[in-house]
Amino acid sequence: MRQDINDDDDDDDDDDDDGVDGDGWGAAGVEHQLGDVVETDALFAILKRPLPITFRVNRTQPGVEAVDADLQGFQGDLTYLDWCDAWQLNVGNVADIKQRTKPGSALHEWRQWLAARGKAKLIERQEVVSMLPVSLLQLEGHHRVLDMCAAPGSKTSQAADMMLARGAKVSKTTDGAAPGCVVANELDARRARILIGRLRPFAQSPALNIQVVNHKAQTIPASLACFEGQKNEKGFDRIICDVPCSGDGTLRKNPGLWAHWVPHYGLSLHSTQLQIALRGIALLRVGGRMAYSTCSLNPLENEAVVAALLRQAPVKLVDCSSVLGSLQVLEGLSSWDVIDDTGMVFSSHADAIRRSRPKRCVHRFRKSHFPPSDSARAAELRKCIRVLPHLNNTGGFFVALFERTSDPWPASKSTEHAKKKSLDKQRVVRELYNNRKDVTL
Ligand SMILES: C[S@@+](CC[C@H](N)C(=O)[O-])C[C@H]1O[C@@H](n2cnc3c(N)ncnc32)[C@H](O)[C@@H]1O
Repeated sequence: MRQDINDDDDDDDDDDDDGVDGDGWGAAGVEHQLGDVVETDALFAILKRPLPITFRVNRTQPGVEAVDADLQGFQGDLTYLDWCDAWQLNVGNVADIKQRTKPGSALHEWRQWLAARGKAKLIERQEVVSMLPVSLLQLEGHHRVLDMCAAPGSKTSQAADMMLARGAKVSKTTDGAAPGCVVANELDARRARILIGRLRPFAQSPALNIQVVNHKAQTIPASLACFEGQKNEKGFDRIICDVPCSGDGTLRKNPGLWAHWVPHYGLSLHSTQLQIALRGIALLRVGGRMAYSTCSLNPLENEAVVAALLRQAPVKLVDCSSVLGSLQVLEGLSSWDVIDDTGMVFSSHADAIRRSRPKRCVHRFRKSHFPPSDSARAAELRKCIRVLPHLNNTGGFFVALFERTSDPWPASKSTEHAKKKSLDKQRVVRELYNNRKDVTL
């Protein structure tokens, strides 16, 4: 199981081993989770090719003008990506460049340029799809931002850079604008240390408060969401909820995944992902926004989690089409099958409970694994964003943008039932008390 799959700062281990023809669940599993309207030939063809190099310019570093000038003058297959203010170099990957370019050639010089600017923190290598959540959140300098599962820190540093470029301040400005801050959480202590290293360049710039914390994302304390000067509104303005996932969208970077993919990943990760996302909404202020994302294409880790959130939490989905620029995307799925590791397909929770074997394992299936039966809610899921690798020559990715709509949470059926039972009990006790003369003990 890949908990940390979109560590997108190390492309060096990419190679041309396609692995795509591997048998077992890989190809069948991927096909199973794509929905109907997908050009599978184009998709499988691109999965055999290495990822292009993508990077963004750290807008707040001194010397950035020279980087911009170099990029403008570059003669070659370099594309500017408007929707995330980043660049894509279409020459394969670093491993390719290492092998294919000779010293003195244009590509060799380009490779040295990338390495030197990366070391000076003027540019940041980041897989392009991984830039989506922060781009959609449209951060401002004054925002209070939480990154719930932050290591190794690609999205946190993208967020910090964007906030600094948009006027983040550590203290209240003379015009009364609030100071922004970023709280980056990571459960794994070793990875939290990597995160700290990644964020160190921002610590040298005293313009933004950055805090790294080490909690289970499901139980991040509410005290972290209380800010000085924030009156009736508790909570973060923006949340990056980039959950641990099966990582099957990263097949181009990790072809080895083909051999290991099993449906069980989605079935088991779903609950953790949902709990993390529910905690995120609890820490979000009313009107605040949260981007839920995975580098998986599995609807159980994606749309199924989104559908459960829409049902259980005070949120709505935000339509992001206007900020996607030239990025080609597919809408979210509104129906999908649930399969088990033996390949059995189940159409509903009741069906899974009835037919799944062995019987002692039926608890693996949850109602929230299955598509919503309510057609309006299912249609709402189309606002989610799926990026498939062949659409923009990228990895696979999923993101949904939520907005918190109210403070109280919708009462679930079980809470209402428990409340009613408790009221009934109180009534019986009151009646017994009022008529106590009639009661024989
Ligand atoms: C998909 S990676 C995050 C990548 C990161 N957002 C980035 O862009 O660099 C998921 C991270 O969540 C961490 N993680 C796993 N379970 C967690 C939990 N319950 N609470 C917090 N973090 C968790 C993993 O250690 C891993 O670093």
